Amino acid sequence: MDHDHQELVVCYNALAVLINEGEAAPAVNGALARLVDHTKKHFQQEEALMEREGYPEQASHNAEHRMLLNLVAVLAERTQQASDQPVNVNRFAFLGSWLRNHILDADKDLAQFVLRFQPAICRT
Ligand SMILES: [Fe+2]
Ligand SMILES: [Fe+2]
Repeated sequence: MDHDHQELVVCYNALAVLINEGEAAPAVNGALARLVDHTKKHFQQEEALMEREGYPEQASHNAEHRMLLNLVAVLAERTQQASDQPVNVNRFAFLGSWLRNHILDADKDLAQFVLRFQPAICRT
């Protein structure tokens, strides 16, 4: 899960660089599509894990995933439609904060639930 999250952050950073450099919409949409791809795969794995583990917060966690995918779909469509205009940086700002908040909050709760019965490992 941590490795997946790192990958998502790398994809997001690549997208943010393009936006900050004022790249045209097609390049931005390409990077956005790659981020969406990784994100969908990651969500599928996380949702399968929740299913397997009988995670009690699955419904709300899934809802957060769906909400992000819906918002990103709208974002991609708008960027596509206005492909001759500079990309609106503010529209993308939420993506970064969503990722950060979700990983630090909902995903952390899930990880703690999955690891709840594992004995603590003494590393010394
Ligand atoms: Fe998640
Ligand atoms: Fe996650």
